[in-house]
Amino acid sequence: MPATVVVGTQWGDEGKGKVTDLLAGSMDVVVRYQGGHNAGHTVVVGGDSFALQLVPSGILYPHITPVIGNGVVVEPGVLLAELDALAARGVDTSRLIVSGNAHLIMPYHLELDRVTERYLGKASLGTTKRGIGPAYADKAARVGLRVQDLADPKIFRQKLDVALKEKNAVLAKVYNRLPLRAEDICAQYLEEYAPRLLPMVGDAVAVVHDALASGRQVLLEGAQATFLDLDHGTYPFVTSSNPTAGGACVGAGIGPRAVDRVLGVAKAYVTRVGAGPMPTELHGELGDLLVDRGREYGTNTGRKRRCGWFDAVLLRQAVRLNGLDEVALTKLDVLDTLETVKVCVAYRDGDELLRQPPYHQSVLHRVSPVYEELPGWRCELGRLGPGDPLPPEAQQYVAFLAEQIGVPIRLVGTGPGRDQVVRLA
Ligand code: GTP
Repeated sequence: MPATVVVGTQWGDEGKGKVTDLLAGSMDVVVRYQGGHNAGHTVVVGGDSFALQLVPSGILYPHITPVIGNGVVVEPGVLLAELDALAARGVDTSRLIVSGNAHLIMPYHLELDRVTERYLGKASLGTTKRGIGPAYADKAARVGLRVQDLADPKIFRQKLDVALKEKNAVLAKVYNRLPLRAEDICAQYLEEYAPRLLPMVGDAVAVVHDALASGRQVLLEGAQATFLDLDHGTYPFVTSSNPTAGGACVGAGIGPRAVDRVLGVAKAYVTRVGAGPMPTELHGELGDLLVDRGREYGTNTGRKRRCGWFDAVLLRQAVRLNGLDEVALTKLDVLDTLETVKVCVAYRDGDELLRQPPYHQSVLHRVSPVYEELPGWRCELGRLGPGDPLPPEAQQYVAFLAEQIGVPIRLVGTGPGRDQVVRLA
């Protein structure tokens, strides 16, 4: 049963979009398994660039059935707007299937996300303020509304009344905000969104299992990344779902045995948006150079990303947490101009040398990185064609990373374009 998981191995923005695109030709079904419209895959097809937030990248290929799995939280207005924008560019959006079990992001989630971040002040988490965290919180608290509830106005209203009573009390008493009206929400969700969304709603689990049973290829597409995972990331600076490979099983409704390949995507350096520990962070000129050459600004938010050297300690942990078979290394070209490149091979904590991240986050905050320095290649990798070998120093860098993390690196990105990739044996 051939399911492949594509997962980010760092703090997101590794270039999963391009890697998914490279695999898409041989896939039949592409499932988004967690997150919401806080992702931002960039896929370049036929010279056109598409920034997708919620819709699986499979939508861009006529032979693929794109699926929004049960693990995703859906803001219907955003989903419909994204579909309209794709349709306006000639993309056939009629194949999309949305799991009836996916949870809805409601207007009060958005409102709460905004006011709580403001309320937390300096202690804020740097969320994207799109209601995603509050929607997952309601899912866990069992007061969430699901996509399937759009099909039953009576149940929708009952659930909404229960949720809204508490939300309005919090909004008014804690945050001094005006209450939201159930009638307004019903008008928007049941009259405006439901008629357009319901034809796409289906049994996503059945679609995935039917595909697997008939030997078709299923790609499980993660958003965000391993160290933003709710359980395994640098809590609380994490996302509210599980991007790690185990989350792919839950968020798509398959067992672990249905997955026969787990592909991790890693940048040739590391980046992180917002707060939280980052042992190899570079400040000053070098950090700015990576921001500049890597165009490290958030796809949706425009926020400047923090940049640092490749962290093999983190990657070893990502290999374990996801059961990675291999890694695709992206954006190697960003390091082209450097005389030497560094790789963090361990952390130092006092007299202790750590090869895996410490379980206690206070330790992670205080460790210092231990680096190995390698020669740079000082040439433009972006010019290489798919058949060209990497220059010896770049080969040495990639081989060193693979040895450090203990899994093969088979794909190396040398530029944003579809052809800017080197395949290694
Ligand atoms: P999230 O799901 O939000 O974490 O993002 P992502 O991992 O899907 O990242 P995305 O696809 O948005 O990629 C980030 C950017 O890197 C995009 O603009 C890509 O075109 C670009 N990119 C991907 N691979 C390479 C590469 O090898 N070199 C360079 N220079 N750019 C690349």
